[in-house]
Amino acid sequence: MKKVSYAEFGGPHVLHLIDAEEPHPGPGRIRIAVRAAGVNPVDWRVREGQVLGAHPIELPAGVGLDAAGVVDEVGQGVEGVEIGDHVFGEGTDTYAEFAVLSAWAPMPQHLTFQEAAGYPSVVETALRILREVGVRSGQTLLVSGASGGVGSAVLQIARDRGITVIGTAGAPNQDYLRSLGALATTYGQGWVERVRQLGPVDAALDLAGSGVIRELVELTGNPHKVISIADLGAPQHGVRFSGVAGSMPEALAEAVDLISRGKLHIPVEKSYPLAEAAAAHIDSHAGHTRGRRVVVVRPDRT
Ligand SMILES: NC(=O)c1ccc[n+]([C@@H]2O[C@H](COP(=O)([O-])OP(=O)(O)OC[C@H]3O[C@@H](n4cnc5c(N)ncnc54)[C@H](OP(=O)(O)O)[C@@H]3O)[C@@H](O)[C@H]2O)c1
Repeated sequence: MKKVSYAEFGGPHVLHLIDAEEPHPGPGRIRIAVRAAGVNPVDWRVREGQVLGAHPIELPAGVGLDAAGVVDEVGQGVEGVEIGDHVFGEGTDTYAEFAVLSAWAPMPQHLTFQEAAGYPSVVETALRILREVGVRSGQTLLVSGASGGVGSAVLQIARDRGITVIGTAGAPNQDYLRSLGALATTYGQGWVERVRQLGPVDAALDLAGSGVIRELVELTGNPHKVISIADLGAPQHGVRFSGVAGSMPEALAEAVDLISRGKLHIPVEKSYPLAEAAAAHIDSHAGHTRGRRVVVVRPDRT
């Protein structure tokens, strides 16, 4: 099968489309014929050699966590899913024609494979940090870097829970944030004052890692009401860095519920053929994705 792989850590040029052995699912896993894989910043962070997990990456390595596709092998002990089912979920080396998933859920019917591939990691992250920051209905949450994948999910889930949201994003994304039900303002000079004018803030999330932790603590008045997923220096300000993934099966079940109720939609900013995964990484790295980018293994209509 075709698979995106790299034999050394480095820039996007280390990615190559290679012929590889097909993977097969062990107990409790399934294999899908991948239709699309979500592109997450963690994909290029790991490729660059940033140490993110407890386990070192063995080279050569594949790329990708999130995917949507058609079940074609079912591991021992797996129940409730059949060959031919359309699923989305999380696994390993998903930028490939076939991938093994460790967590999955049936795809909501009206989603395309490309759309579905964008949800798993961003929804897991959004649910986790909303839980950790402890914000409740009737309160106001400030989200720094609100127009990306995680931000799009946080905004919509918070609004569904009766939380008022103030989001910061670039000028081209102000109407996008408002379309998700948020109060919007731009980041950059004067942003703290612009947020103050929108109202008092009970809790805050740093999704962009743009060096604003001190200001977020100032705005909430309490470092325990701020969480960062992108600034490793956050603990120096007494702020928690959230980096350990929560339960993916629960996140997928909640995603299905929200999507089916019309409360959650993550737009696909752009899709790329498997052979152009490097371009997807370059664009994701630029840091201005609205929603999610996806790598397409087989187009939706084939
Ligand atoms: N620790 C964890 O568990 C975890 C989990 C998931 C993701 N992450 C990390 O969290 C970050 C966000 O992930 P993502 O998938 O949402 O990324 P993304 O889709 O690439 O979105 C990044 C967003 O940041 C915004 N942004 C860029 N510069 C900004 C600035 N100076 N101030 C405020 N916002 C700015 C952009 O908005 P504009 O386009 O409007 O400028 C863009 O929408 C990444 O660094 C990722 O690695 C960590």
